[in-house]
Amino acid sequence: MFSTLKEQPADKILALMQAYKADPRDNKIDLGVGVYKDAQGLTPVMRAIKSAEKQLWEQETSKSYVALAGDPAFGDVMVSLVLGSAVARDTVAAVATPGGTGAVRQAFELIQMANSGARVFVSDPTWPNHLSILKYLNIEVVNYRYFDADTRGVDFDGMMADLSDAKAGDVVLLHGCCHNPTGANLNMTQWQAVVDVLLKTGATPMIDIAYQGFGDGLDQDAAATRLIASSVPETIIAASCSKNFGIYRERTGMLMVVSQDGGARGLNQSTLAFLNRQNFSFPPDHGARLVTMILQDDALCAEWQAELEEVRLGMLGLRTQLASELQRLSGSDRFGFIAEHRGMFSRLGASAEQVEQMREKHGIYMVGDSRLNIAGLNAQTVPILAAAIVETGV
Ligand code: LMR
Repeated sequence: MFSTLKEQPADKILALMQAYKADPRDNKIDLGVGVYKDAQGLTPVMRAIKSAEKQLWEQETSKSYVALAGDPAFGDVMVSLVLGSAVARDTVAAVATPGGTGAVRQAFELIQMANSGARVFVSDPTWPNHLSILKYLNIEVVNYRYFDADTRGVDFDGMMADLSDAKAGDVVLLHGCCHNPTGANLNMTQWQAVVDVLLKTGATPMIDIAYQGFGDGLDQDAAATRLIASSVPETIIAASCSKNFGIYRERTGMLMVVSQDGGARGLNQSTLAFLNRQNFSFPPDHGARLVTMILQDDALCAEWQAELEEVRLGMLGLRTQLASELQRLSGSDRFGFIAEHRGMFSRLGASAEQVEQMREKHGIYMVGDSRLNIAGLNAQTVPILAAAIVETGV
């Protein structure tokens, strides 16, 4: 029967990881997959995670199942981390999922269950796996303009015009912060305008927030999500702990549905738990438990926040260094956007040929659309990248 299978398209980001690994050059630079790396090129286990793991090893007495929705305490801490006090806890249905991608996948299935004809509006560009999963589930996709190739900022007028075509029953997928792949983000005045268009059209927002704490700070990065969730009748949120807790392989995420209609929560919650049961039954617990322990303990939480802040400021420092090195080498301000972008990524605006050229000639690996992972750099490699960018004529 398997002879009927067709080769599936390779995920571009994961294929790039393989190509980088296979490159024998010592001076190669990996700016591909969205994984944080320190100045030594390592992805460390965060200090608070190590401490929590030690405690957990000593205290955990059973590995039996927890609950279909995951530990309710994990739900509470995540709702509070992402939503703060923007909405009442009893308006939020929440289930643990295997990573942020698990939450995204399940959110799309939820949308399909609720409205089989729903269209999902996605930013152009968006994270490629959004598109891949939507296609896999046969959900209609509508692109909305997002990235302005000239300014490397947001084409806000284009975005607003395209979002006004959405209707009740459609979903608008938004990146809560640190837009992936562009690094270009809205300001709060623009987010308010997004709220207004959502209210006007009746479309439902779905927010993917995978980089909270990597942009302007934990609360600042959640501000748009909080504004939307407290302003519109229903909001879907897919949150990831992979990056801000550095627990990528533990697969720790949360799907939330906020419904201002207080009576809706019970049905939302049981539907989310049902989806967990159909897809994988009980969600992974280890990462979720560590996150819960950290967020419930003042000392651990302070330690985690301090390290997250080091990570965030380190990336901002690299952005500033890269922008000024490019300014020096090119004699122009056209790369100033790198210092303005936030999060792990910036879309450089290089052509596919130029990206290829930088890979062949300089061993610099970035995604084909010229997304670069700022965290893949360090103070020594920034000048090498800047020189390669200018030499390539970007
Ligand atoms: C990325 O965009 O590089 C990350 O979100 C990792 C992934 O799974 O693609």
